[in-house]
Amino acid sequence: MERTFVMVKPDGVRRGLVGEVVRRLEGKGLRLVGMKLMQVDEALAARHYAEHRDKPFYPELIAFITSGPSVPMVVEGRDAVAVVRTLMGATDPAKAAPGTLRGDWALSLTENLVHGSDSPESAAREIALYFEPHELLPAGR
Ligand code: RTP
Ligand code: MG
Repeated sequence: MERTFVMVKPDGVRRGLVGEVVRRLEGKGLRLVGMKLMQVDEALAARHYAEHRDKPFYPELIAFITSGPSVPMVVEGRDAVAVVRTLMGATDPAKAAPGTLRGDWALSLTENLVHGSDSPESAAREIALYFEPHELLPAGR
């Protein structure tokens, strides 16, 4: 069993797509072990996206991710990191395959609906950024 970090970004919350994201994760068989609605502030955004600090799109990324409430969550299941990335689709929604979250529900490269950790190491780091241990269910099933 593996855990990964997923977050519905502010565009997804604004557009009422939280349920759509959760439905697809749960439908796939992933188990929700943590979830909340929160506003990401500048400090948290900077820690989350530290790897992109020197990229040209960084200021736009930070402005967007702090622009409204997000829904961070933790899901658990077999190969959860890779499975979530597959369900999300390509970073650029214009290139994301139909049937993926970004392929079906997004078109903007910045406002691309959902974040998912890109490795088990990123998942552990991101889960710790967003959740206290007591906010997560114990490993199960
Ligand atoms: P994420 O971290 O949000 O799950 O997305 P990702 O792994 O698919 O993409 P990543 O390379 O980590 O980029 C993080 C977010 O930055 C925005 N981005 N903009 N304008 C651009 O060239 C550009 N490239 C990336 C996207 O919103 C991407 O999700
Ligand atoms: Mg990424």
